[in-house]
Amino acid sequence: MKSVLFSRFFILLPWILIVIIMLDVDTRRPAPPLTPRPYFSPYPVGRGGVRLPLRRGSSGRGAEKRNESRPQPEPRLPTIYAITPTYSRPVQKAELTRLANTFRQVAQLHWILVEDAAARSELVSRFLARAGLPNTHLHVPTPRRYKRPGLPRATEQRNAGLAWLRQRHQHQRAQPGVLFFADDDNTYSLELFQEMRTTRKVSVWPVGLVGGRRYERPLVENGKVVGWYTGWRADRPFAIDMAGFAVSLQVILSNPKAVFKRRGSQPGMQESDFLKQITTVEELEPKANNCTKVLVWHTRTEKVNLANEPKYHLDTVKIEV
Ligand code: UGA
Ligand code: MN
Repeated sequence: MKSVLFSRFFILLPWILIVIIMLDVDTRRPAPPLTPRPYFSPYPVGRGGVRLPLRRGSSGRGAEKRNESRPQPEPRLPTIYAITPTYSRPVQKAELTRLANTFRQVAQLHWILVEDAAARSELVSRFLARAGLPNTHLHVPTPRRYKRPGLPRATEQRNAGLAWLRQRHQHQRAQPGVLFFADDDNTYSLELFQEMRTTRKVSVWPVGLVGGRRYERPLVENGKVVGWYTGWRADRPFAIDMAGFAVSLQVILSNPKAVFKRRGSQPGMQESDFLKQITTVEELEPKANNCTKVLVWHTRTEKVNLANEPKYHLDTVKIEV
Protein backbone atom coordinates (compact mmCIF):
# COMPACT_ATOMS: atom_id res chain seq x y z
CA MET A 1 0.00 0.00 0.00
CA LYS A 2 2.74 2.37 1.00
CA SER A 3 4.72 1.69 -2.18
CA VAL A 4 1.63 2.38 -4.38
CA LEU A 5 1.17 5.76 -2.70
CA PHE A 6 4.86 6.54 -3.15
CA SER A 7 4.88 5.71 -6.85
CA ARG A 8 1.69 7.80 -7.40
CA PHE A 9 3.36 10.68 -5.61
CA PHE A 10 6.47 10.50 -7.81
CA ILE A 11 4.38 10.37 -10.99
CA LEU A 12 2.43 13.49 -9.92
CA LEU A 13 5.41 15.44 -8.57
CA PRO A 14 6.76 16.75 -11.91
CA TRP A 15 3.28 17.95 -12.89
CA ILE A 16 2.81 19.73 -9.58
CA LEU A 17 6.17 21.43 -10.05
CA ILE A 18 5.27 22.56 -13.59
CA VAL A 19 1.99 24.08 -12.34
CA ILE A 20 3.80 25.90 -9.50
CA ILE A 21 6.42 27.32 -11.89
CA MET A 22 3.77 28.53 -14.35
CA LEU A 23 1.75 30.23 -11.63
CA ASP A 24 4.86 31.95 -10.38
CA VAL A 25 5.86 33.24 -13.81
CA ASP A 26 2.38 34.61 -14.38
CA THR A 27 2.20 36.57 -11.14
CA ARG A 28 5.62 38.10 -11.74
CA ARG A 29 4.54 39.54 -15.07
CA PRO A 30 3.19 43.08 -14.49
CA ALA A 31 -0.40 43.60 -15.56
CA PRO A 32 -0.61 45.22 -18.98
CA PRO A 33 -1.40 48.93 -18.65
CA LEU A 34 -4.73 50.17 -19.96
CA THR A 35 -3.08 52.66 -22.21
CA PRO A 36 0.34 52.23 -23.80
CA ARG A 37 2.90 53.82 -21.51
CA PRO A 38 6.13 55.46 -22.52
CA TYR A 39 8.82 52.85 -22.79
CA PHE A 40 11.13 54.87 -20.63
CA SER A 41 11.50 58.34 -19.32
CA PRO A 42 13.79 60.59 -21.32
CA TYR A 43 15.10 61.87 -18.04
CA PRO A 44 16.68 60.09 -15.15
CA VAL A 45 15.39 60.79 -11.68
CA GLY A 46 16.83 63.98 -10.26
CA ARG A 47 19.06 66.28 -12.17
CA GLY A 48 22.47 66.01 -13.66
CA GLY A 49 22.20 62.28 -14.40
CA VAL A 50 23.00 60.68 -17.72
CA ARG A 51 20.33 61.46 -20.27
CA LEU A 52 18.81 58.45 -21.95
CA PRO A 53 18.09 58.40 -25.68
CA LEU A 54 14.82 60.14 -26.43
CA ARG A 55 13.40 57.73 -28.96
CA ARG A 56 12.58 54.09 -28.81
CA GLY A 57 14.94 51.88 -30.71
CA SER A 58 17.59 54.55 -30.98
CA SER A 59 21.09 53.21 -31.26
CA GLY A 60 23.07 52.15 -28.25
CA ARG A 61 22.86 49.01 -26.20
CA GLY A 62 21.61 50.87 -23.15
CA ALA A 63 18.42 51.77 -24.97
CA GLU A 64 17.74 48.17 -25.92
CA LYS A 65 18.27 46.98 -22.40
CA ARG A 66 15.90 49.55 -21.02
CA ASN A 67 13.21 48.65 -23.55
CA GLU A 68 13.37 45.03 -22.48
CA SER A 69 12.81 45.71 -18.81
CA ARG A 70 10.22 48.49 -19.29
CA PRO A 71 10.84 50.28 -16.01
CA GLN A 72 7.89 52.03 -14.44
CA PRO A 73 8.33 55.73 -13.60
CA GLU A 74 10.05 56.27 -10.26
CA PRO A 75 7.33 56.67 -7.64
CA ARG A 76 9.14 59.54 -5.96
CA LEU A 77 9.15 61.65 -9.13
CA PRO A 78 6.68 64.55 -8.66
CA THR A 79 3.78 64.26 -11.09
CA ILE A 80 3.55 67.05 -13.63
CA TYR A 81 -0.09 68.08 -14.16
CA ALA A 82 -0.45 69.87 -17.48
CA ILE A 83 -3.73 71.79 -17.80
CA THR A 84 -4.56 72.39 -21.44
CA PRO A 85 -7.61 74.41 -22.50
CA THR A 86 -8.67 73.50 -26.02
CA TYR A 87 -11.50 74.38 -28.40
CA SER A 88 -12.93 73.01 -31.60
CA ARG A 89 -11.41 74.40 -34.81
CA PRO A 90 -9.88 72.90 -37.97
CA VAL A 91 -6.37 72.65 -36.47
CA GLN A 92 -7.42 71.23 -33.10
CA LYS A 93 -6.48 67.61 -33.72
CA ALA A 94 -3.16 68.61 -35.26
CA GLU A 95 -2.32 70.76 -32.23
CA LEU A 96 -3.29 68.02 -29.78
CA THR A 97 -1.24 65.51 -31.75
CA ARG A 98 1.89 67.66 -31.48
CA LEU A 99 1.27 68.15 -27.81
CA ALA A 100 0.71 64.45 -27.08
CA ASN A 101 3.85 63.56 -29.01
CA THR A 102 5.79 65.78 -26.62
CA PHE A 103 3.99 64.78 -23.43
CA ARG A 104 4.38 61.08 -24.19
CA GLN A 105 8.10 61.47 -23.75
CA VAL A 106 7.79 62.99 -20.29
CA ALA A 107 7.74 60.64 -17.32
CA GLN A 108 4.97 60.89 -14.76
CA LEU A 109 2.89 63.46 -16.60
CA HIS A 110 -0.86 63.70 -16.16
CA TRP A 111 -2.66 65.60 -18.88
CA ILE A 112 -5.77 67.54 -17.87
CA LEU A 113 -7.43 68.45 -21.13
CA VAL A 114 -10.33 70.88 -20.74
CA GLU A 115 -12.56 71.42 -23.71
CA ASP A 116 -14.19 74.79 -24.17
CA ALA A 117 -17.50 73.15 -25.00
CA ALA A 118 -20.89 72.22 -23.55
CA ALA A 119 -19.97 68.52 -23.73
CA ARG A 120 -16.94 66.36 -24.31
CA SER A 121 -16.51 66.01 -28.06
CA GLU A 122 -16.13 62.69 -29.81
CA LEU A 123 -13.02 63.87 -31.59
CA VAL A 124 -11.18 64.68 -28.38
CA SER A 125 -12.50 61.57 -26.56
CA ARG A 126 -11.30 59.30 -29.36
CA PHE A 127 -8.02 61.15 -29.52
CA LEU A 128 -7.34 60.77 -25.79
CA ALA A 129 -8.27 57.09 -25.81
CA ARG A 130 -5.40 56.49 -28.20
CA ALA A 131 -2.98 59.09 -26.87
CA GLY A 132 -1.14 56.73 -24.54
CA LEU A 133 -1.09 59.26 -21.71
CA PRO A 134 -2.60 59.33 -18.24
CA ASN A 135 -5.29 61.95 -18.66
CA THR A 136 -8.43 63.59 -17.36
CA HIS A 137 -10.94 64.87 -19.87
CA LEU A 138 -13.03 67.81 -18.68
CA HIS A 139 -15.23 70.35 -20.38
CA VAL A 140 -16.77 73.71 -19.60
CA PRO A 141 -18.10 76.22 -22.10
CA THR A 142 -16.94 79.83 -22.07
CA PRO A 143 -20.09 81.94 -21.60
CA ARG A 144 -21.00 83.57 -24.91
CA ARG A 145 -20.54 87.09 -23.51
CA TYR A 146 -16.85 86.36 -22.90
CA LYS A 147 -16.19 84.97 -26.38
CA ARG A 148 -15.11 88.28 -27.82
CA PRO A 149 -11.81 89.48 -29.21
CA GLY A 150 -9.92 91.51 -26.64
CA LEU A 151 -11.14 89.42 -23.70
CA PRO A 152 -8.98 86.84 -21.91
CA ARG A 153 -9.34 83.27 -23.14
CA ALA A 154 -9.67 79.94 -21.37
CA THR A 155 -10.39 81.37 -17.89
CA GLU A 156 -13.19 78.88 -17.12
CA GLN A 157 -11.22 75.94 -18.54
CA ARG A 158 -8.11 76.59 -16.42
CA ASN A 159 -10.32 77.00 -13.35
CA ALA A 160 -12.01 73.67 -14.10
CA GLY A 161 -8.57 72.06 -14.18
CA LEU A 162 -7.68 73.67 -10.84
CA ALA A 163 -10.97 72.53 -9.29
CA TRP A 164 -10.35 68.96 -10.44
CA LEU A 165 -6.87 68.96 -8.93
CA ARG A 166 -8.13 70.29 -5.60
CA GLN A 167 -11.00 67.82 -5.52
CA ARG A 168 -8.75 64.88 -6.32
CA HIS A 169 -6.33 65.73 -3.54
CA GLN A 170 -8.77 67.00 -0.93
CA HIS A 171 -8.68 63.92 1.33
CA GLN A 172 -5.18 62.65 0.96
CA ARG A 173 -1.92 64.25 1.95
CA ALA A 174 -0.68 65.91 -1.22
CA GLN A 175 1.64 63.77 -3.26
CA PRO A 176 4.52 65.76 -4.74
CA GLY A 177 3.23 67.42 -7.87
CA VAL A 178 3.75 70.38 -10.17
CA LEU A 179 1.07 72.21 -12.14
CA PHE A 180 1.72 73.84 -15.48
CA PHE A 181 -0.67 75.59 -17.88
CA ALA A 182 0.11 74.18 -21.31
CA ASP A 183 -1.81 75.95 -24.09
CA ASP A 184 -2.45 73.64 -27.03
CA ASP A 185 -0.62 75.71 -29.64
CA ASN A 186 2.75 76.35 -27.95
CA THR A 187 5.97 74.42 -28.51
CA TYR A 188 7.55 72.70 -25.51
CA SER A 189 11.06 71.31 -25.25
CA LEU A 190 11.56 68.19 -23.17
CA GLU A 191 14.13 70.02 -21.05
CA LEU A 192 11.38 72.32 -19.82
CA PHE A 193 9.74 69.47 -17.92
CA GLN A 194 13.00 68.50 -16.31
CA GLU A 195 13.36 72.10 -15.10
CA MET A 196 9.84 72.51 -13.76
CA ARG A 197 9.84 69.13 -12.01
CA THR A 198 11.92 70.57 -9.15
CA THR A 199 9.52 73.47 -8.48
CA ARG A 200 9.19 74.01 -4.74
CA LYS A 201 6.57 76.78 -4.77
CA VAL A 202 6.44 78.77 -8.01
CA SER A 203 9.10 78.60 -10.69
CA VAL A 204 9.64 80.84 -13.71
CA TRP A 205 11.62 80.82 -16.96
CA PRO A 206 11.83 82.67 -20.29
CA VAL A 207 9.25 82.27 -23.07
CA GLY A 208 10.18 82.62 -26.72
CA LEU A 209 8.23 84.51 -29.42
CA VAL A 210 5.94 86.48 -27.14
CA GLY A 211 5.05 90.03 -26.18
CA GLY A 212 6.15 91.39 -29.55
CA ARG A 213 9.72 90.27 -28.92
CA ARG A 214 11.89 87.26 -29.67
CA TYR A 215 11.52 86.38 -26.02
CA GLU A 216 10.50 87.64 -22.62
CA ARG A 217 12.30 86.65 -19.46
CA PRO A 218 12.51 87.27 -15.75
CA LEU A 219 15.67 89.23 -14.83
CA VAL A 220 17.67 87.42 -12.20
CA GLU A 221 20.28 88.71 -9.76
CA ASN A 222 21.93 86.50 -7.16
CA GLY A 223 19.41 83.75 -7.82
CA LYS A 224 16.38 86.05 -7.31
CA VAL A 225 13.95 87.58 -9.78
CA VAL A 226 14.44 91.34 -9.70
CA GLY A 227 12.50 92.45 -12.78
CA TRP A 228 11.28 91.56 -16.23
CA TYR A 229 12.68 91.83 -19.72
CA THR A 230 9.54 92.52 -21.75
CA GLY A 231 8.33 94.72 -24.57
CA TRP A 232 4.72 94.84 -23.46
CA ARG A 233 3.16 96.34 -20.35
CA ALA A 234 6.28 96.23 -18.23
CA ASP A 235 4.12 97.51 -15.36
CA ARG A 236 2.57 94.07 -14.91
CA PRO A 237 3.46 92.78 -11.43
CA PHE A 238 4.45 89.48 -13.04
CA ALA A 239 5.29 90.31 -16.65
CA ILE A 240 5.14 86.71 -17.76
CA ASP A 241 3.16 84.55 -20.18
CA MET A 242 1.07 81.56 -19.10
CA ALA A 243 3.78 79.29 -20.51
CA GLY A 244 6.46 80.85 -18.30
CA PHE A 245 5.71 79.42 -14.87
CA ALA A 246 4.82 76.31 -12.87
CA VAL A 247 3.26 75.95 -9.42
CA SER A 248 3.67 73.16 -6.91
CA LEU A 249 0.57 71.15 -6.09
CA GLN A 250 1.08 72.06 -2.44
CA VAL A 251 0.73 75.78 -3.22
CA ILE A 252 -2.43 75.12 -5.24
CA LEU A 253 -3.94 73.17 -2.34
CA SER A 254 -2.95 75.62 0.36
CA ASN A 255 -4.45 78.52 -1.61
CA PRO A 256 -7.87 77.01 -2.34
CA LYS A 257 -9.37 80.33 -3.46
CA ALA A 258 -6.71 81.16 -6.05
CA VAL A 259 -8.41 81.11 -9.46
CA PHE A 260 -8.44 82.99 -12.75
CA LYS A 261 -10.88 85.85 -12.55
CA ARG A 262 -13.12 87.28 -15.24
CA ARG A 263 -14.05 90.42 -13.34
CA GLY A 264 -11.71 93.25 -14.14
CA SER A 265 -9.31 90.98 -15.97
CA GLN A 266 -7.70 92.13 -19.18
CA PRO A 267 -5.89 89.97 -21.72
CA GLY A 268 -2.28 89.59 -20.71
CA MET A 269 -3.08 90.29 -17.07
CA GLN A 270 -4.47 86.85 -16.20
CA GLU A 271 -1.04 85.50 -15.29
CA SER A 272 -0.28 88.43 -12.99
CA ASP A 273 -3.72 88.33 -11.39
CA PHE A 274 -3.32 84.63 -10.67
CA LEU A 275 0.27 84.72 -9.46
CA LYS A 276 -0.47 87.66 -7.14
CA GLN A 277 -2.82 85.37 -5.22
CA ILE A 278 -0.24 82.69 -4.51
CA THR A 279 3.25 84.19 -4.40
CA THR A 280 5.51 87.24 -4.46
CA VAL A 281 8.20 88.22 -6.95
CA GLU A 282 10.89 87.68 -4.29
CA GLU A 283 9.75 84.12 -3.76
CA LEU A 284 9.97 83.03 -7.42
CA GLU A 285 12.40 80.24 -8.30
CA PRO A 286 14.27 81.00 -11.53
CA LYS A 287 14.79 77.98 -13.80
CA ALA A 288 16.50 77.44 -17.16
CA ASN A 289 19.95 78.53 -16.08
CA ASN A 290 18.85 81.63 -14.17
CA CYS A 291 16.31 82.41 -16.89
CA THR A 292 18.85 82.59 -19.71
CA LYS A 293 17.51 79.72 -21.85
CA VAL A 294 14.35 79.57 -23.93
CA LEU A 295 12.74 76.14 -23.51
CA VAL A 296 9.19 77.01 -24.55
CA TRP A 297 7.87 79.04 -27.45
CA HIS A 298 4.59 80.90 -27.66
CA THR A 299 3.99 79.73 -31.22
CA ARG A 300 0.62 80.47 -32.81
CA THR A 301 -0.81 78.42 -35.61
CA GLU A 302 -1.85 80.19 -38.77
CA LYS A 303 -5.57 80.14 -39.48
CA VAL A 304 -6.12 77.51 -42.16
CA ASN A 305 -7.35 78.41 -45.59
CA LEU A 306 -10.58 76.54 -46.24
CA ALA A 307 -11.66 78.72 -49.16
CA ASN A 308 -12.16 75.70 -51.41
CA GLU A 309 -14.00 73.58 -48.90
CA PRO A 310 -17.37 72.57 -50.42
CA LYS A 311 -20.51 73.75 -48.65
CA TYR A 312 -21.97 70.24 -48.53
CA HIS A 313 -20.21 66.95 -48.05
CA LEU A 314 -18.98 65.82 -51.48
CA ASP A 315 -16.49 63.09 -50.73
CA THR A 316 -17.55 59.45 -50.69
CA VAL A 317 -16.05 58.93 -47.24
CA LYS A 318 -16.26 60.90 -44.00
CA ILE A 319 -12.84 61.68 -42.60
CA GLU A 320 -11.92 63.15 -39.25
CA VAL A 321 -9.24 65.82 -39.60
C1 UGA B 1 -2.06 84.34 -24.88
C2 UGA B 1 -1.55 83.54 -23.68
O1 UGA B 1 -0.41 82.80 -24.04
C3 UGA B 1 -2.67 82.61 -23.22
O2 UGA B 1 -2.22 81.80 -22.16
C4 UGA B 1 -3.86 83.45 -22.79
O3 UGA B 1 -4.95 82.62 -22.40
C5 UGA B 1 -4.31 84.27 -23.98
O4 UGA B 1 -3.22 85.05 -24.50
C6 UGA B 1 -5.45 85.22 -23.64
O5 UGA B 1 -5.61 86.23 -24.32
O6 UGA B 1 -6.21 84.91 -22.74
P1 UGA B 1 -2.87 83.35 -27.29
O7 UGA B 1 -1.95 82.59 -28.20
O8 UGA B 1 -3.26 84.72 -27.68
O9 UGA B 1 -2.25 83.33 -25.85
O10 UGA B 1 -4.21 82.50 -26.99
P2 UGA B 1 -4.71 81.13 -27.60
O11 UGA B 1 -3.60 80.20 -27.86
O12 UGA B 1 -5.66 81.41 -28.70
O13 UGA B 1 -5.58 80.55 -26.38
C7 UGA B 1 -4.98 80.08 -25.20
C8 UGA B 1 -5.54 78.70 -24.86
O14 UGA B 1 -6.94 78.79 -24.68
C9 UGA B 1 -5.30 77.66 -25.93
O15 UGA B 1 -4.97 76.42 -25.35
C10 UGA B 1 -6.63 77.58 -26.65
O16 UGA B 1 -6.91 76.30 -27.20
C11 UGA B 1 -7.63 77.91 -25.54
N1 UGA B 1 -8.85 78.59 -26.02
C12 UGA B 1 -8.77 79.66 -26.84
C13 UGA B 1 -10.07 78.12 -25.62
O17 UGA B 1 -10.17 77.14 -24.87
N2 UGA B 1 -11.21 78.76 -26.07
C14 UGA B 1 -11.15 79.83 -26.91
O18 UGA B 1 -12.22 80.36 -27.30
C15 UGA B 1 -9.90 80.29 -27.30
MN1 MN C 1 -1.58 80.54 -28.15
